[in-house]
Amino acid sequence: MSDWPKYDLDYLNGRRQRRLRRTGWMRDLVRETTLTPADFIWPLFVIEGQNERTQIRTMPGVERMSIDLLVRAAKEAAAAGIPALALFPNTPDQLRNPDGSEAYNPDNLMCRALRAVKDAVPQIGLIADVALDEYSSDGQDGLVRDGEILNDETVHAMVRSALVQAEAGADIIAPSDMMDGRVAAIRQELDAAGYEHVAIMSYSAKFASAYYGPFREAVGSGQRLLGDKKTYQLDFANTDEALREVAQDIDEGADMVMVKPGLPYLDIVRRVRDSFNVPVFAYQVSGEYTMLKLAGAAGAIDGEAAMMESLWAFKRAGAKGVLTYFALEAARRLGG
Ligand code: PBG
Repeated sequence: MSDWPKYDLDYLNGRRQRRLRRTGWMRDLVRETTLTPADFIWPLFVIEGQNERTQIRTMPGVERMSIDLLVRAAKEAAAAGIPALALFPNTPDQLRNPDGSEAYNPDNLMCRALRAVKDAVPQIGLIADVALDEYSSDGQDGLVRDGEILNDETVHAMVRSALVQAEAGADIIAPSDMMDGRVAAIRQELDAAGYEHVAIMSYSAKFASAYYGPFREAVGSGQRLLGDKKTYQLDFANTDEALREVAQDIDEGADMVMVKPGLPYLDIVRRVRDSFNVPVFAYQVSGEYTMLKLAGAAGAIDGEAAMMESLWAFKRAGAKGVLTYFALEAARRLGG
């Protein structure tokens, strides 16, 4: 220390960045972003039955639940300060067909789940995913003819699906299919049917990703899917194209937009945040969840610490909130 040249110390004393990191209270004082239970949307998987829960092989700690248990989970979420749930049905095999017509059955599993939760826990927001893969027999998000995914016919089916969901109590319609023009069509038909108060959160920048694998097991679409979703979901090499999708969805009437997957796509979240002024959400998808869970369970990382760090990263990147399977766990850790 004594042989440290005087001029270097002068330099350093004026530039000691570590002063702001010295103590816990100082770090609290200067922290640039916050993370609270209100930042989370909790995705939940619904099955038929009473008091039924089934473990999802590919998602340790996540279960599909029958509607009665779903209601219980919704109460826990509300008590923990989580503002909204995103529901996904695992449609029974015998109800799946090439048209995915169960998607617009007003009494389908999804609609019954929406009604039950809305009735029992009216203070929590309900987000309804709209896409055909949860209902069709071939695991694609769109209708298939001769190996082609049909755009406009799919949009028509999705509009019908969104209408029965709105009627069942969905507060936010979330089209996750990446067909062209679906936001405008859904907005127009919701308004025409008197659901102008129902919002649209569009999966605007949804990339064709290997990270969705565990989810497809959860909703039962994975083993049906032949090929991939690359003719509609975005190419993961692109970012300008993602911005064009976001711009078009906002133009078509999306109230909120989403980037998906999450952590590997934070550059997209940041670009969307800097380029538009609608709320942007990120989806920490099933594969991201499972990687953290398995690495934590193997003792390779501190799973809980990595969970919190990953959620904070979304806020730092500019996300308004995060769809995450960690929602309840993280909300409770944050004191919700
Ligand atoms: C369905 C849909 C998918 C996800 C949400 N909605 C799967 C897919 O597009 O294949 C993925 C969610 C996750 O992986 O957690 N359209």
